[in-house]
Order: sequence, then C-alpha cells, then structure tokens
Amino acid sequence: MDAAALADLALDIAREAGALAWQRREEGVAIAATKSAIADIVTEADREVEALIRARLAAERPDDGFLGEESGAERGTSDITWVVDPIDGTVNYAYGMPHYAVSIAAVSGEPTPPTWTALAGVVHNPAVGETFHAVRGGGAWRDEQRLTVSQVGAAGGLVATGFGYDPKHHEGDLARVAAVMPLVRDLRRAGAASLDLAYVAAGRLDGYFERGLHPWDHAAGALLVTEAGGLVTGAPDVFPGREMTVAAGPDLLHRIVAAIGL
Ligand code: IPD
Repeated sequence: MDAAALADLALDIAREAGALAWQRREEGVAIAATKSAIADIVTEADREVEALIRARLAAERPDDGFLGEESGAERGTSDITWVVDPIDGTVNYAYGMPHYAVSIAAVSGEPTPPTWTALAGVVHNPAVGETFHAVRGGGAWRDEQRLTVSQVGAAGGLVATGFGYDPKHHEGDLARVAAVMPLVRDLRRAGAASLDLAYVAAGRLDGYFERGLHPWDHAAGALLVTEAGGLVTGAPDVFPGREMTVAAGPDLLHRIVAAIGL
C-alpha cells in the first residue's frame, strides 16, 4: 500500500472516529480519569474512539504496529506503525469547545521519533467538519484545497503555543512566551496541538511552539506542516521527540528558535 492509500484509509477511519466522538459529545461527556495532572484528563469517549480506530486498523492492516495515547504501543511485523490520538484537545472536548481532533498518522521505521518517517497523516475536527491530510511527497490538503504555510517576514505573525501538563515546566513555558511575544502580532493557546500544526500548514497560524509533545500529538500535524512547505524543528525526517517543537515557515522558525534559545 503506498502513502496515498494509507492516507485514504486514515481519512475513512478518522471520519468514522470523529462521528463517534461528536455523537458522544452531544450525549454529554464526563471526565473518566485525571492522569498526570489536573489538566491531563481522559473521557470514556477518548477510550471508545481509540478502540474503534484500533479495531478498524487491525481489521484492514493486521501486520502493522500501533501507538495510541490511551491504549499504548504494540509492535507489528510490517514496517508501518499507526500513531493515534483519538481526541486531541480533550480538555476542549470535555468543556464543549469545538476545537478538538482525531489525529492519525502512518509512519515507517522505528515507531519512535526521531527515527521514523511519516508517510501519511490526517487531522479531523468533527465539530466543525474540517479534515486536513498530508501524503509524504504529495502535499498537504484541507478537504480539496492544497495548503501552503504563510511566509511572514520581519513584521511578526500570529503564533500559537501550548503548555505541557507537568507543572515543573510551567516557568520555562512562560519564559518562552515572554521571549516570543515581542516578535509576533499576537499569541494563541488553543488547546489541541494537532490542530495548531494543521493551522500552521493552512496559513491560519504563522507559527507554533510547545515543549514536551508526545508522538501522537505531532505525528500527523508535523507532516502537514512540512508538506505545506514549512519546517518543524528537526523535520522532515528527524523529530526532536519530547523537547521543543517549533513549526513555521523558514524565516519565522529561525527567529522563534533564536528567541527561545534552542
Ligand atoms: C494535548 C493538547 C494540548 C497540548 C498538550 C497535549 P490531549 O493533547 O494537544 O494542546 O498543549 O501538550 O498533550 O491530551 O488533549 O490529547
């Protein structure tokens, strides 16, 4: 199966999974558990949606590996691993804010960054009915529209960030916000890393930075950015793992990287 066919499969499954997430949200959502911190939550819907995605992938691609936020990792016998966040932006989801997404990526090679190569990625927001996808070498798309990152020069831009859950990093997070603030028109903390990256790919955001993302947060979104002509620190083939992720067009990326002292 080539990268485009992997993307088609991911698109089908992400839409089905998104419909389930949306339906469960309509029925009312309860926080099922708090994980590493008060903001690190899981709902029954996260678990149910991941189970659906995992079952669909196992039926279609039984030899592939799987790495999911809620149900963990399983090595496959093929070269492909599926990296899945069933509901990215769980806090938004739990509070009824329509800014969350199903994120599914197919990667080849060792199933941990920095050694993998992302082949296909889908970020689907069922609450607004928007689907972003990328195929390695085949571009990044929002529905039928091809995406290109913005090219901001010296005049700043709209940049998003996020805050990981571990409070010991919050001081550093705020120091980075203070360092980047003078470079940009404005900052956003929208609460779903996969959508932050998709929005950089779409030119809705000029850039994004966050410390401590997990593979399922960025696997699909980083491919969207690079296929839209942007850079992600370390990408296209090497990802920096759990430390800093910076995504933008080249000019802004280098200015953010310099400001935060990467
Ligand atoms: C989180 C969101 C958030 C980001 C966190 C992620 P989750 O994912 O993407 O925007 O700041 O770092 O963990 O927990 O909602 O799947």
